[in-house]
Amino acid sequence: MSPEREPVGVIGVGWVGLVTAVCFAELGHEVVARDIVPEKVESLARGETTIHEPGLEEMLRRNAERITFTTEMSELLDRARLLFVCVDTPPTYSGDADLSRVRTVVQELPEDSEHVLIMKSTVPAGTGHSIRRDRAGLPYVSCPEFLKEGTAVKDFMNPDRVVVGADAGDEGAAAAVAALYEPLGGEILHTDVASAEMIKLASNAFLATKISFINEIANVCEEVGADVGEVAAGMGLDARIGSSFLRAGIGYGGSCFPKDVSALKMLAGNTGYHFQLLTAVIEVNELQKRRVVSKLQKHLGSLIGKRIALLGLAFKPDTDDMREASSLVLAARLQGEGAEVVAYDPVAAGRAGEMLDSVEMAASALAALDGADAAVLVTEWGEFATLDWNDVAARMARPLIVDGRNFLDPKALAEAGFEYEGIGKTAIDAPAPAANG
Ligand code: UGA
Repeated sequence: MSPEREPVGVIGVGWVGLVTAVCFAELGHEVVARDIVPEKVESLARGETTIHEPGLEEMLRRNAERITFTTEMSELLDRARLLFVCVDTPPTYSGDADLSRVRTVVQELPEDSEHVLIMKSTVPAGTGHSIRRDRAGLPYVSCPEFLKEGTAVKDFMNPDRVVVGADAGDEGAAAAVAALYEPLGGEILHTDVASAEMIKLASNAFLATKISFINEIANVCEEVGADVGEVAAGMGLDARIGSSFLRAGIGYGGSCFPKDVSALKMLAGNTGYHFQLLTAVIEVNELQKRRVVSKLQKHLGSLIGKRIALLGLAFKPDTDDMREASSLVLAARLQGEGAEVVAYDPVAAGRAGEMLDSVEMAASALAALDGADAAVLVTEWGEFATLDWNDVAARMARPLIVDGRNFLDPKALAEAGFEYEGIGKTAIDAPAPAANG
């Protein structure tokens, strides 16, 4: 068998594991994917994906013959040498990453294993060394994932870079992993295990820092009458800065940035180093969500009994992922101020409903906006851009909107009679009543 078509094993079929499994099958590999949750395995075996990710279900069905989903570790070990570990590493109450699932997987590998453990799960720098200390001789490669939810299939197939981290003695394992990715054409960076682990954490922390930075710039823009969109565009033209991740909004969410920023801060703290910058990045992100509440209060005064419609709940568009979504904090804050919260999300409503207490779930954006005293655009789903805002203004009790993602056209909304609050731009207040005679 040619090395680029070597069978691939995937342990943990969450979002990362499923995308990895399906995309390697698309590249022509036999894939054995193992998860401990039988219902998930059964659903995937029927060709039904357990997450919303554009293009994934079609690709799964197209490659169904090449992928086996199983709950049995022994089946995986029999059929694949290269094992991608994709189990989750959620934050603990202390803010450190919970590595218990990773440890369980390592314990499941037989002592004299010839298998190569390829760590895709995001782990604190030093994890690879500690696994190698416990399991001398187990070939180990750190291969962090850089996929974005919503564009994960495209990102997998067109990587900017693939990082392959291996220490002395594991050169053969590293070459086998690199060979899997060679057909994709991205840059393959060979490095040591600890550096690969740090590349992942540092990349996410840097991107989160860019977001908190532009959010603070936005807050200053509001005070001095500047527009953060213009400022970001001007900054982004400097190649050293770059234009991406400079969209101001109500803060970053998701399963990765909040967890990884906190994990890197804790990792540094555990070594006795206080990572001051990340402390601020986290604080700015928390405060940014709360500023929405003061923007509403500026127009409405007390929020007691006010009906507030949240447009979008997922942490970003094109996903049903609700982990660390800004909507969760916002809904709780609004309820804390006495508001009645109604919400709509085209895809995440089911998951959101399980997490949001006493929030009324509407079947459409219009249904959520009907009779509302204000709306907050939380997630920039494409369908919100095409709403008929004249119609919406007529339906709302008060046409007031806080555009938490600077997604809508303020001029069009003002023409439709809205009071408009964006992030980092001049607010548009209610039109003054026409003077008599
Ligand atoms: C992020 C990274 O972008 C991926 O490279 C990485 O692989 C992944 O985490 C991970 O560690 O698994 P993801 O969490 O899918 O990917 O989401 P992003 O598209 O990066 O967005 C994260 C959050 O930042 C969202 O809440 C988004 O709304 C917010 N954001 C993003 C902004 O507020 N402003 C921006 O300019 C960009």
